[in-house]
Amino acid sequence: MKILLVGSGGREHALALKLKAGQTPVELFAAPGSDAIGELASCLPLGIEDIDGIAAWCAAAGPDLVVIGPEGPLVAGLADALRALGISVFGHDAATARLEGSKSFAKNFMQRHGIPCAASGTYTAFEAAEATIRTWPLGYPIVLKADGLAAGKGVVLAESRQEALDTLRSFLSGAFGEASRTVVLEEPLVGMELSLHVLVDVTTDHLRYAILPSCQDHKRLLEGDRGPNTGGMGAFGPIPFLRPEDLERIRTELVEPTLRGCQQEGLVARGVFFLGVMWTSAGPKLLEYNVRFGDPETQVLMELLDENLAELLLEVAEGRLSHETVRIKAGCAIAVVLAAEGYPESAKKGVPIEIRAPCCTVIHAGTRKVQERWTTHGGRVLNLTTLASDLTAARALAQADFDEVSWPGMQLRRDIGLRAQRHAEARRSVQDPW
Ligand code: AMP
Ligand code: GLY
Repeated sequence: MKILLVGSGGREHALALKLKAGQTPVELFAAPGSDAIGELASCLPLGIEDIDGIAAWCAAAGPDLVVIGPEGPLVAGLADALRALGISVFGHDAATARLEGSKSFAKNFMQRHGIPCAASGTYTAFEAAEATIRTWPLGYPIVLKADGLAAGKGVVLAESRQEALDTLRSFLSGAFGEASRTVVLEEPLVGMELSLHVLVDVTTDHLRYAILPSCQDHKRLLEGDRGPNTGGMGAFGPIPFLRPEDLERIRTELVEPTLRGCQQEGLVARGVFFLGVMWTSAGPKLLEYNVRFGDPETQVLMELLDENLAELLLEVAEGRLSHETVRIKAGCAIAVVLAAEGYPESAKKGVPIEIRAPCCTVIHAGTRKVQERWTTHGGRVLNLTTLASDLTAARALAQADFDEVSWPGMQLRRDIGLRAQRHAEARRSVQDPW
């Protein structure tokens, strides 16, 4: 099967490894890929947003499947352009990708379809938003969200009125260009956050999906969930204390209404939805939609998945998903992010990496090979990923590798999964305080 993978990060390296590991022989191409992905694929000199260039390559090369990793090209209409050429694409059309590309569109969608979520309002005028903040009735922190894509930096949890007003002013004056000229103000939700990925194949005449294992990401830079927000410092899954009946609630209260809503509104969905969920004292509430796989959640999911990924994604792309449940390996998987000095504000590039004899799989998220030596080339540089019998064992395996990979200034969290491990050991459920 000839496959083009769009993207270049850790998510795409993990997808590339899994695509090549299935029974189906895969001839893999990547746009643009990376030096690590280049060990598995032919990398094309095409950027992820180069819709014309990617379409021209597909028209000439005729891949059997295109898998689009990041949200940017989905929102920009890459999938639409390729489908217009008759190419099978795993990834949503632009109309469906608005669920991630516009927070106000997503919130209105949730409200139209009765999906439990935080109360919110959408603003484009400073005065109206300012008046709301001055009489804010929903408690602190006030959650401010830039409407559009802002490279993971468009959400601020403001602890004070002043911080909220400063953020509002900066957003509306174009801190993220057009993406922040509309702002959503939202009620803060308290609870346990989880990532739920669902493979979706929805058209006006059918609705099929397969739910993947629950994961938990760790957004804060520092141990104990302190420090600035990042793209994610590590993840594990499945969450050990999430019972089948809890997942059933998420399925009936969040997943099914979303997919029926897409169907009613004529939003064709052929790809993955990644629901950001907060399990509150009132049960699961939807924080946000992503229309792509999470990073580093994908690294965890690829460890757990016991399927031929190329065939599975092709089924979705061709609108013939036959799996209601996908085969999942027993145990628990973990991904620990090794980040560059200075991340998340900046990242020190070009630092040589020492890789000794790790037992974990080493996923490359931001590296470059310079004279046969791997060097840092991004914020999140490498991920250590592994599967073990349970969360405690998975954490121990990752821990054992922390000295096997290093470079000066490397940052990592040694507590990925620790809070969940303790919660499970204390026999607490998801209903108990987190
Ligand atoms: P997003 O960029 O939409 O993924 O949001 C980034 C993070 O902000 C989420 O992963 C949550 O941790 C947090 N967040 C978003 N909305 C809320 C909310 N209403 N209440 C509390 N935290 C939130
Ligand atoms: N790990 C969170 C994300 O991919 O958005």
